[in-house]
Amino acid sequence: MTRKIHIFDTTLRDGEQSPGASMNAQEKLVITRQLLRLGVDVIEAGFPASSPGDFDSVRDIAELAGDACVVCGLTRAVERDIDSCADALKYAARPRIHTGIGVSPQHLKYKFKNMTLEEAIDQGAAAVRHARKYVHDVEFYAEDAGRAPYDDLVRMIQAVVNAGATVVNIPDTTGYSMPWEFGARIKYLMEHVDGIEDVCVSVHCHNDLGLATALSLAGVMNGATQVECTINGLGERAGNTAMEEVVMAIKMHPDELDAHTDINTVEFGHASRLVSSITGFNVQPNKAIVGANAFAHSSGIHQDGVIKNRETYEIIAPEEVGVSGSQIVLTARSGHAALRKRLEDLGYTDISKDKFELIHAAFLDLADRKKEVYDDDLHSLMGEQDRNENAIYKLDAVQISCGHPLVPTATVTMTDAEGNTSTVCETGVGPIDAMYSAINKVVRAENDLTEYSVQSVTRGINALGEVTVRIKAPDGAVYIGRGSHDDITVSSGRAYVNALNRMLEQQMREPVSDHLEEDVPKHI
Ligand code: KIV
Ligand code: ZN
Repeated sequence: MTRKIHIFDTTLRDGEQSPGASMNAQEKLVITRQLLRLGVDVIEAGFPASSPGDFDSVRDIAELAGDACVVCGLTRAVERDIDSCADALKYAARPRIHTGIGVSPQHLKYKFKNMTLEEAIDQGAAAVRHARKYVHDVEFYAEDAGRAPYDDLVRMIQAVVNAGATVVNIPDTTGYSMPWEFGARIKYLMEHVDGIEDVCVSVHCHNDLGLATALSLAGVMNGATQVECTINGLGERAGNTAMEEVVMAIKMHPDELDAHTDINTVEFGHASRLVSSITGFNVQPNKAIVGANAFAHSSGIHQDGVIKNRETYEIIAPEEVGVSGSQIVLTARSGHAALRKRLEDLGYTDISKDKFELIHAAFLDLADRKKEVYDDDLHSLMGEQDRNENAIYKLDAVQISCGHPLVPTATVTMTDAEGNTSTVCETGVGPIDAMYSAINKVVRAENDLTEYSVQSVTRGINALGEVTVRIKAPDGAVYIGRGSHDDITVSSGRAYVNALNRMLEQQMREPVSDHLEEDVPKHI
C-alpha cells in the first residue's frame, strides 16, 4: 500500500488572500460543502483573529464540517491569536490550530525587525505549547522556509516538534525554490530532526515561478505526507499549489511517488467552476485539468488520434475529473425531471423545492430565447440564482438606447431589500456608462470601477455573455461582481449590482468585535 497524502485545502484562507477574491460567509459555506464532496482531509477555514467575519466563518465552517475532516484556523505565534482561534474552534469535532513564525533571514530582519533566530525559535515553540493547551492537533509553519539556511530550519523544526507540534509545515512562501532543491531540503529535515517520523510533514508552496505543483511533488517524493493547496491554484500573488494538479499527478504516478490521496477527483470540475464563479477569477482556458481546453483536440492529426484511441493524446479521461465533454442539450420541452437530473449530474444536489421552482422558471425563460441550453448555460444560470438570493438590490429591468449619433441613454428599474422600487434614467459616454450612472443614482454607494470584462459562456451568436467587474470601495477594499444573460447589457448591469451588493453587505457588518485586536493584520 502506498503512503496516504493528506490534502489540506486553504482556498478559504490563503486563496481568499488573493486581492479581490474575498468571499462572504455564505459563499464560504457553499465552498465548504464542495470541499467535503471532494473529501479533503483538512480545511483551513480562516484566520480568526483577523476580523469578526473570519472568526464567525471558522466557527460556522467547523460546525458544517462536523467530523468529516479536520478544520483548522491560522494564527501568528502570539497568544491572543491562538486564544481567538481556540475560541472559534470550540465546537469543532476535529480542531487544529495552525500557528507559526518566520525563519528566513529576510523575515527575521525585515518583518520581525532584527529578531534573532533564537528569539523566533523560542516564540514558535511557546506558541505550540500554548496551542496544545487547547487542542491536541497543532500544526506549526516556519514561514519562508524555502529561503532559510538548512540548519536554521532544522533548529526551529526540532524545537517545535519537542514542544508538541503534530504537523510541521515547510512553506516556500515566496515560490523561490527549485523543485530538486526543495526536495533536498525536505530530505535534510527528515534526516536531521529527531522524532520527525512521528509527525506529519507538510508542504505549502507558492507559484511565483510557476513551480508550485512541482515543488509540492518534490516534497512528497522526499517524505512529506501533507500537501497544502487550493482549488484552481488561487492564492497570494501567483497563487498556491493547485489541488487538482497535485492530486492528479499523484494519481498518475502512485508507484514513483509511493503515494495516493483519498480525493474524489470527479468533483474537480464542479469545484473549479464554483470557486471561479464565486471569486470572479476566470480559469485560463489552457489550465491543466480544469481549463476549458484541457481536453480539447483541435489539430486534425490529434483529432484523428483521439478518435482511434483516446489514450493517444489524453492521459486522463475527462470524466475522471468531472469535466465530461458531454453535450446533453436541454430545451424548453425538457421537463422538471430532466432539468433536475442534469443539475444533479453537474453537482448541484440538495436544491430545495422552492429554489428549484425559481431555477426552472429561469431555465424556461432562457430556453425560450436561446432554444438549446448547454451545461455551461446551466452553470451560469445557477450562479445567477445564487447571486440573487438575499441580494440587497435587484435589477428588475434595463432599457438602453444607443448608436451613432444618439446620446447613450439607460433606464433602470431596481428594487431594494424593503421592496421599494425606483426607475431612473441617465445618459453616459456609452451604453454601459449610462446604465452604471443610473444604477449609481439608485444605490448611492461611492466606488471606483476598476475592471470590466466580458466572456462568452457557450458558443454561437446567442451564447450567454458573462460579465465580471471589480469595484474599489473608498477604504481600498476590492469587490467582484458577476452577471450573466444572453444580452450583455443586462449581464453588465447584473454584474455591477452584484459587486455593489457585496460591498454594501460587507459595510453593513459590524466593523469591530471583541475578538479583533487593533494591530492584527487582515492577512499573514
Ligand atoms: O505562504 C505561507 O508561508 C503561508 C503560511 C502562513 C502558512 O501561507
Ligand atoms: Zn501561503
